[in-house]
Amino acid sequence: MINYEKIKSEAAKQMRPSGIRKFFELASEIPDCISLGVGEPDFQTPWSIRESAIHSLEIGRTKYTSNAGLLPLRTEITNFVKRKYDLNYNPEDVLVTVGGSEAIDLAIRMLVEEGNEVIIPEPCYVSYEPITTLTGGVPVHIQCTEENEFRVTPEQVKEALTEKTKMLILSYPNNPTGAVLRHEDLVGIAEVLKDTNVIVLSDEIYAELCYGDEKYESIAHIEGMHDRTIVVNGFSKSFSMTGWRLGYAMGPKPLIETMTKIHQSCIMCSPTTSQYAGITALSSCDEEILKMKEEYDFRRKYCVRKLNEMGLHTFEPKGAFYVFPNITSSGMDSDTFCMELLKRKNVAIVPGSAFGESGEGFARISYAYSLSHLQTALGRIEDFLHEIKEEK
Ligand SMILES: Cc1ncc(COP(=O)(O)O)c(C=O)c1O
Repeated sequence: MINYEKIKSEAAKQMRPSGIRKFFELASEIPDCISLGVGEPDFQTPWSIRESAIHSLEIGRTKYTSNAGLLPLRTEITNFVKRKYDLNYNPEDVLVTVGGSEAIDLAIRMLVEEGNEVIIPEPCYVSYEPITTLTGGVPVHIQCTEENEFRVTPEQVKEALTEKTKMLILSYPNNPTGAVLRHEDLVGIAEVLKDTNVIVLSDEIYAELCYGDEKYESIAHIEGMHDRTIVVNGFSKSFSMTGWRLGYAMGPKPLIETMTKIHQSCIMCSPTTSQYAGITALSSCDEEILKMKEEYDFRRKYCVRKLNEMGLHTFEPKGAFYVFPNITSSGMDSDTFCMELLKRKNVAIVPGSAFGESGEGFARISYAYSLSHLQTALGRIEDFLHEIKEEK
């Protein structure tokens, strides 16, 4: 008999499993469960994007592409980021990946080795830490607070820096909080990193989903940061293309070249059909993106108002498609709150603790659901709050 536990690598065994998945496995066992848990757009991928994918298949574009991705797609990516965020890249600085997920994985694996520190402001998306530990890297967490609208400060970054720091991960607009860094935050962080060799991994997957006056600015746009930033972006969120598995990384050519080498060995190239679809998405779908964003914005305002009205203090998110209500007034920790809500009202939301220690006391609600779905679920949350109040 093989003892499988004995033969697995220690690093793989120690990887923290996703708290989101764990919760949804439980929710999937409950009949009539209504979920506000998944960070996946409810819209169909715009038709013109699907049509160009179908066309590419009809004319037989079914082979591998170059490892880095189709040149016309990489060219469109550079045009798009210039037009939207005033970022200057050449197609050689771009690697097309299997979702933003692969770009994150490659960037961390390309840079981080045993004992290197990776600064991860929290609460944040769940993949950075497990990939860091898989490489032997050491995650160094920064706790972002509601008082500071969940923005990491230059002072916090300075405090976390050591001789061993290899990378700082910035993930804004943030999942789960919806926080966005301001220009002065970015300038302050750039100042802190100025004389170091620390590389920023800037996960900008929600950059197109910024609301109100907030116009997205990438840290790569700040003086001195272009050469020390790897920007990760993708098609899943703003183009509603989660299942197409398409994303990209952009950065200094020597770093992108090494990431391409790893990608060549483990992936070969991103799905060809998706790459053709991506060209259409970037070049001719501004109107569709805007329409989806307007709908998210409407839901965002509805959720913030409704949650505050029912007594859950909710910070107004500036981007992405999540709200992050403070649930401490319930007297429960975030795991218990979400579990009780699931058991009593069949509503699934994600405990804030799944996104790091500083997420404790909060819960993540995704508003990538129709308004009627949101209304039903928030109505049940309100009933739940009444119920637990009466029990006290
Ligand atoms: C902050 C963040 N980064 C990256 C991803 C990965 O996206 P994908 O691999 O679909 O591009 C997600 C998905 O939820 C996310 O929330």
